[in-house]
Amino acid sequence: MPRRGAFIVIEGLDRSGKSTQAATLLRRLQDAQISAKLIKFPDRTTPIGKMIDSYLRSENELDDHTVHLLFSANRWEFASSIEKSLQSGETIICDRYAFSGLAFSASKIRPGSQSYPLLDYEWCRVPDIGLPAPDITLFLDVSADVARKRGGYGEERYEKEDVQRRVRDVFVRISEHVQGGGGRWEVIDADETQEEVQEVVWKTVQELVAGVDAPLEKLWD
Ligand code: TYD
Ligand code: MG
Repeated sequence: MPRRGAFIVIEGLDRSGKSTQAATLLRRLQDAQISAKLIKFPDRTTPIGKMIDSYLRSENELDDHTVHLLFSANRWEFASSIEKSLQSGETIICDRYAFSGLAFSASKIRPGSQSYPLLDYEWCRVPDIGLPAPDITLFLDVSADVARKRGGYGEERYEKEDVQRRVRDVFVRISEHVQGGGGRWEVIDADETQEEVQEVVWKTVQELVAGVDAPLEKLWD
C-alpha cells in the first residue's frame, strides 16, 4: 500500500507567524520533492467563506452561534477534498483548523461580564466531530509582549489584545485534552526569529512528511 500524505495543522494566535511558517514549510517540502499543498481556514472564497469574511471585517452582525457553525461548515466544505489529497499521497499544511474554531468561539464572554462564557466549550467542539483529524498540530506559542512588538494587530473583529488573551486560555485547555481524538499536539516557541522557528517546525515534521502508514482518523473520535 502506498503511504498517504501527512495532515499538518498550524495553529496559534494572530501575530504568531503561522502564515509565514506555513508558506516557508510548503516551499521547503516542494524543494525536497515532496508533494504538498497549503490550505487555510477560514477559506473566504466560498459563499459561506464570504459571509465569514464580511463578519470578520465587521460589515455585518451575526448571532455568535451562527458564526461558529459557519466556520465549521466552511471546514466541512473541504473535508472530502482534504481526504482525497491525503489518500493520493499529497501532504497538506493547514493554516488554522477546528482548534481555532473552538478557541475563538469558546473564548467569547457575555457582554458586561468579566468571564461568563457566551458559548459552551462542548457545544463549540461538537460541529467539527468527524472532520479529518490532523496527524500533528503545531501550536505556535507567541507571548503577548512579542506579539505587541510585531507591530499592531489588524482591524478585524478578533484582533485585539484582550480577545487574544482569552483565546490563548482556551488553546491551553484544548492542549490538555487534545490527546483524546485531536491528534498529536506540539507547542513551538514562536517568540524566536522566523528562521529559528522554521528549524524547529522542519525537524518536528520530518518523520511525517516521509509518508504516513496509519489510517486517517476522524477528529474527536
Ligand atoms: P486568519 O487566519 O487570521 O485570517 P487572515 O490570515 O486572513 O487574517 O483568520 C481570521 C480570524 O478568524 C482569526 O481572528 C481567527 C478567526 N477564526 C475563528 O474565529 N474561527 C475559526 O474557525 C477559524 C478558522 C478562524
Ligand atoms: Mg489574522
